[in-house]
Amino acid sequence: MSRKILVTSALPYANAPLHLGYIMEAVQTDIWVRFQKMRGHDCIYCCAEDAHGTPIMIRAQQEGITPESLIARSAEEHRRDLAGFLIGLDQFHSTHSAENVQLTRLLYDRVRDGGFIARRAVRQAYDEQAGIFLPDRYVRGTCPRCKSPDQYGDSCEVCGSTYTPAELIDPISTLSQTTPVWRESEHLFFKLGAFDTMLREYVAGGSLQPAVRAKLAEWFEAGLQDWDISRDAPYFGIEIPDAPGKFFYVWFDAPIGYIASFEAWRAAHAASFADYWESETSSELYHFIGKDISYFHTLFWPAVLYGAGLRRPSGVFVHGFLTINGQKMSKSRGTFITAQRFLELLPPEPLRYYFAAKLSSGIEDIDFSLDDFVARTNSDLVGKLVNIASRCAGFIERGGGGLAAALPEPALYDEFTAAGERIAALYESRDYSAAMREIMELADRANRYVDQHKPWTLAKNPARAEDVRAIATQGLNLFRVLMSYLAPVLPHMAQAAAAFLGTRIGDWNAIATPLLAQPIARYQPLATRLNPQAVAALIAPPLAAASGEAPASAPASVGIDEFAKLDLRVARVAAAELVPGSDKLLRLTLDLGGEQRTVFSGIRAAYRPEQLTGRLVVMIANLAPRKMRFGVSQGMVLCAGSESDASAAFLLAPDSGAEPGMKVT
Ligand code: 2FM
Ligand code: ZN
Repeated sequence: MSRKILVTSALPYANAPLHLGYIMEAVQTDIWVRFQKMRGHDCIYCCAEDAHGTPIMIRAQQEGITPESLIARSAEEHRRDLAGFLIGLDQFHSTHSAENVQLTRLLYDRVRDGGFIARRAVRQAYDEQAGIFLPDRYVRGTCPRCKSPDQYGDSCEVCGSTYTPAELIDPISTLSQTTPVWRESEHLFFKLGAFDTMLREYVAGGSLQPAVRAKLAEWFEAGLQDWDISRDAPYFGIEIPDAPGKFFYVWFDAPIGYIASFEAWRAAHAASFADYWESETSSELYHFIGKDISYFHTLFWPAVLYGAGLRRPSGVFVHGFLTINGQKMSKSRGTFITAQRFLELLPPEPLRYYFAAKLSSGIEDIDFSLDDFVARTNSDLVGKLVNIASRCAGFIERGGGGLAAALPEPALYDEFTAAGERIAALYESRDYSAAMREIMELADRANRYVDQHKPWTLAKNPARAEDVRAIATQGLNLFRVLMSYLAPVLPHMAQAAAAFLGTRIGDWNAIATPLLAQPIARYQPLATRLNPQAVAALIAPPLAAASGEAPASAPASVGIDEFAKLDLRVARVAAAELVPGSDKLLRLTLDLGGEQRTVFSGIRAAYRPEQLTGRLVVMIANLAPRKMRFGVSQGMVLCAGSESDASAAFLLAPDSGAEPGMKVT
């Protein structure tokens, strides 16, 4: 029976580029949606820009543009990146939309009329110069517990304690660098505690992941607090109708953006609001989110929906964070990889496959290891999967006459199709890594089949031409089954494979009948090996100077934030070589304490290679890689010297005791 399913990913903020962490979530969602569609279900995928809030207002002010133009630009970039990663959204809308204004007010009216809104005065830091109340993150000062200077207004990064901005010693507004004053203002609160029993029952209903349920038990234990849903003007958001000068806090209207996006989609489709948002039985609703926003989605959001007489989510699918080479993404380490940067260097499908091969239904963090990424892509996608098609295609092409009229081993084909229900169950439960394992085991099985029958040997004997055709037909049919199972993960490759085989891939059950007695198209490579150098270049995001956007003359002064963008490191010269064909460059292999980089340096006139091996130097580790005639340069070593005399170059070196990899500050 066909199900009605509405699926969402978290709404990205409209003041930042998408990074690979977000792309992982979008890919996880997209795979699930594509899978449901292939199974014949009525599945809609909605998302939107999260357009409101103080950071967006401030960012627009800093750029000297209106918040509306900031969010329009951001939406365009986000759409481009999502399309680049083949995210098949049915609707990408915005929380700054007529639908969202109307729905936010409607939900608010309903919860207020239900008695779930309280009003009381709140004392808050106020920046008199900027004329705004300051969110906690915009106040910095000395930690009241450990006395570390320059900590955020809500928590200390040194000792980990949490507090209120009023407790900070010597607080400063980060907007104007002035001391904030404390002002009172009336705020509106959503009475979350009133939903305690309902939420406990909802959670006990069993639709959440065990680790999320465990976290919820802690939150219930700590007690559900009222939630402040209002902010004072000036604020970029939706004004509260019965509280002039006050706006809904961005987190109140953001999830309502899910409904707004659905409404925008519904305007062009025949679907009923009631089916999706009023009844909990006529449709299913799932939110894919990261673990940092579980509280909002498993407590506030179901409570707001329930309080407003709407349906609650059927499930909230929480995933862990993405780490890069085992570490948290970090701008200073150059591991904050944007979606755009990735797509400049690499195609999207290997990453989609890599994420699938690592994602499960749990909330553990997922590591994007660059070496493993290259190895997996080259071994699974190219070495196993595509290999089946590329080795069989030629025999059909050379033999003429297309695919054979019957499979020589129908039982093997049936084994492949019989795996379909198991693999479907794994997709359904978001155990993608287990699904990918099953599929790759089948790919090994298909390759073994071809190996055992050695069509290349038989092909030498013209009398065996029909046997060769039959073997290749069997191989290509097994390949077709695998491509069909992988279509949610590799939609473009599946399309290309379908065009090559002269069929359509898009219906999970179509593989029940094999492809026989029909022509196939000329084989074109469906995937190519990843170049490790292009992958390594991911962790060196371009600085303005390297991307050619820097002003021609150096600015008179540089802020500490600009300087902090440079990742300067101590490195040891592991090898130095002449570069054939260049009288200026030396090719240096630099050891950064575990990681090796190749750098081309214009110091040949000043140094002989043998003088350099073993020396410590200082390098810019996050300079955008530069393609040169002789190879890619992955950084730059620092030298003192004269621009006009290349022989007067003096490498900078740290004092003795420094070690490769140390940060230079
Ligand atoms: O954490 C974030 O990036 C938010 N913009 C997510 C919002 S999801 C939903 F609640 F709207
Ligand atoms: Zn502290």
